[in-house]
Amino acid sequence: MATGAVERTLIIVKPEGVARGLTGEIISRFERKGLRLVALRMGRVSEEVARVHYGHHAGKPFFPDLIRAITAGPVVFAVFEGENAVRVGRLLIGATNPLEAAPGTIRGDFALDSLHNIVHASDAPETAAIEIERFFGTL
Ligand code: CMP
Repeated sequence: MATGAVERTLIIVKPEGVARGLTGEIISRFERKGLRLVALRMGRVSEEVARVHYGHHAGKPFFPDLIRAITAGPVVFAVFEGENAVRVGRLLIGATNPLEAAPGTIRGDFALDSLHNIVHASDAPETAAIEIERFFGTL
């Protein structure tokens, strides 16, 4: 019996996650949880797109470093689908600050600081729709 809305969420394995060879581990955790992989591609985030994607952080002290970090190298974009996919995705990645992310979460297991927290996941179904369109167009 369905217990929640079927949603889609956008995941980005950030440059540091790709460089450290964690792409498979990260994608695997979403699959093992039971979410269905519906789109996957490697690419880069241009500075222009990064400024839009992280527009809500513009003006914050860490904004220039955030733009530098996400544009630093190749990333992997993935879309996962399933019941409550957005909330499940946020649970799997853990708190933004890896110091507060529980062990067993991706950030809790693999990251040390917020700027290099190795993975991004949409924070709401509405944001997910915008982010999926941004990086995949119409799916
Ligand atoms: P992400 O989920 O990609 O969404 C916004 C990003 O901004 C976040 O992960 C972190 O990488 C970064 N971020 C948020 N807060 C801070 C902070 N206080 N210091 C450094 N980076 C931050």
